[in-house]
Amino acid sequence: MKSAVRYYSRSGNTKAVAEAIAKSAGVSAVSVDGAKAALSEPVDVLFIGGALYAYGLDSHMKEYLKTLKKEDVKKAVVFSTSWISKHSIDLIKTALSEAGIPVEADAFYVRNKPNDAQLKDAAAFAAKHLT
Ligand SMILES: Cc1cc2nc3c(=O)[nH]c(=O)nc-3n(C[C@H](O)[C@H](O)[C@H](O)COP(=O)(O)O)c2cc1C
Repeated sequence: MKSAVRYYSRSGNTKAVAEAIAKSAGVSAVSVDGAKAALSEPVDVLFIGGALYAYGLDSHMKEYLKTLKKEDVKKAVVFSTSWISKHSIDLIKTALSEAGIPVEADAFYVRNKPNDAQLKDAAAFAAKHLT
């Protein structure tokens, strides 16, 4: 099963989750503002995550979501971090749905900086969605 991990993170919290998911999936975690952000081939599962900033998504994530094509993503799985609100998950899911990309209902969320146990949970979450 082909997978990819894309994220945007200002202070590293979401990046840490992305890297745990990527390690579990055997791929690299790639920032959406990086040179390699575009999917190089269609994937069965795209893990995509971003945090909430002032009750919205970072503009890098918003722009990246607009570039995704349903032909390239069989299913998306969302992850996020924030202080308290899970609204970022809804915002990412909505953008994916608007692009016609099927989205897994189950999402992975951590408050602020993930600890080791939460990183293990992130890896297990990824594995669950790759079987
Ligand atoms: C400018 C700014 C605005 C934020 N706004 C919210 C918010 O509206 N709601 C919330 O729950 N968390 C908010 N947060 C907390 C971040 O979502 C949280 O620290 C997150 O883990 C940051 O992820 P990152 O390290 O991947 O950038 C905000 C953080 C910053 C820096």
